[in-house]
Amino acid sequence: MFECFENLVNTRQSCREFNDKPLDASVVEKIATLALKAPSACNSQPWKMYLVTKPEKVKAVAESLQERGRNPFVSKAKAFVVVSERDATLFESAVQKFGKNHFVKYDIGELVAYLTLGAQSLGVSSCIIGWIEQEKLKKAVGMPEGEVSNIVVALGYSDIPVREKKRKDAVEVIKII
Ligand SMILES: Cc1cc2nc3c(=O)[nH]c(=O)nc-3n(C[C@H](O)[C@H](O)[C@H](O)COP(=O)(O)O)c2cc1C
Repeated sequence: MFECFENLVNTRQSCREFNDKPLDASVVEKIATLALKAPSACNSQPWKMYLVTKPEKVKAVAESLQERGRNPFVSKAKAFVVVSERDATLFESAVQKFGKNHFVKYDIGELVAYLTLGAQSLGVSSCIIGWIEQEKLKKAVGMPEGEVSNIVVALGYSDIPVREKKRKDAVEVIKII
């Protein structure tokens, strides 16, 4: 089990070169269903996922992620999971101590980690996209007023070999006390 997780974190990488292999909608659904198991504060699950798999919708979402020439590679993504943030429903004592939505962005981070690692476990490459043109994206997926998405996960297949990870040294970020 541990080896399996180790392999996933070592091979998951942001994919900026998707190939032409089609991605079945059922695989995207499987990835999203696995991610529903992600933890969240008070188990409030303050998220919604829009699974974008129809070609015309995929194109519209891709266009909302390319403002100022950013993320041109998303044009070759085969699907997107658009993650929107919702109000959390924490225990009353937690609301009083932290405020209603204090943990929402952490919760979304957990969901996105599950999405990307879940995708990797099924051989699907991914890239988290935070550069979003909000109104365009909302229109593309038909998101209701008041809902916001700050994270989209682009999905597809790739032939790119695993890169060496560039990370801070453990001594910089881990302190054993
Ligand atoms: C919140 C967030 C937003 C990101 N937004 C983008 C983005 O808009 N475009 C992009 O190419 N990569 C984006 N990334 C991917 C990061 O650049 C990438 O995870 C980081 O450089 C580490 O590389 P790796 O994922 O290949 O290990 C984002 C990652 C996170 C967590």
